[in-house]
Amino acid sequence: MSKILLVEDDALLLEVMRNILEAEGFEIHAASNGKQAFDHFMSETPDLILSDIMMPEMDGYELLEAVRVMPNGVTVPFLFLSARTEKADVSRARLLGADDYLFKPFDAPELINAVRSRLDRRRMVELFDTRTAHLQTVIMLANVIEARDPYTAGHLERVRRLALNLAFALDWKNEDIVILEFGAILHDIGKIIVPSRVLKKTGPLDEDEWKLMRQHPEVGAKMLEGVDHLRTAIPYVLYHHEWWNGTGYPNGMSGEKIPREGRLLAIVDAFDAMTTNRPYHISMMAKEAIEEIRQNRGVYFDPDMVDAFIRSYKS
Ligand SMILES: [Fe+2]
Repeated sequence: MSKILLVEDDALLLEVMRNILEAEGFEIHAASNGKQAFDHFMSETPDLILSDIMMPEMDGYELLEAVRVMPNGVTVPFLFLSARTEKADVSRARLLGADDYLFKPFDAPELINAVRSRLDRRRMVELFDTRTAHLQTVIMLANVIEARDPYTAGHLERVRRLALNLAFALDWKNEDIVILEFGAILHDIGKIIVPSRVLKKTGPLDEDEWKLMRQHPEVGAKMLEGVDHLRTAIPYVLYHHEWWNGTGYPNGMSGEKIPREGRLLAIVDAFDAMTTNRPYHISMMAKEAIEEIRQNRGVYFDPDMVDAFIRSYKS
């Protein structure tokens, strides 16, 4: 539940806003002047601050300035409530780093939309900031695998791009696409247990070698289990060799019982394997590979996803 610090010296307006926002499921903390609000901010960082400008003791500008110099206040969305007659002061608010302002009188939808859009935006920015840092670590890890297997050079990058295109074609949400990127890069991380000579082998693998190879989804999933920000990518790692008809591994799941992460990655992974030189088969042209994927629609691959893949590949 998002916490909102509401700062307003007009008790009646404060109550009206509290009721509107509480009805939307927000947790409201109220203060009647800047000083009180700042004390509150210091004891518990809110997710968003909504503040009047003209108030006794410490006004809205002073509050904004005080909040912005604190490490936990640099990115907190700060919205001003302002009377239309105070318009000139809005530019000052912007200079100080206010995110938005609402003109009094405002109605309930206006208030809710302003609060929601700022909170959503903040969530996205946070998600993408941490994503960049994590992505670099993940790419480094994945490079370790690629370095041992020269035949798959560039495979992870291509799978990542193909997977992103397919997820966009399927209208997946942005939050899910962030996880997909990690999953696509890490899907073969479990191959760390497969000796380099097996990865590089040009002939068919013997039974023991296959046994080892087939363990890579589970080994990879175990590797990610203890890492908070990577745990959500496990379905990509664990299920990318499950086939729609139930003949895949490690669990032999079928149809929609296979998590959609695995179904998506299975298509792009197979496509890239077919179009790239690998030790155990000769690469095909993209056109032939697409045809092969189409023929396995409903056999190895999710039929709807195959349709989307073919559309996304053409466009
Ligand atoms: Fe794999």
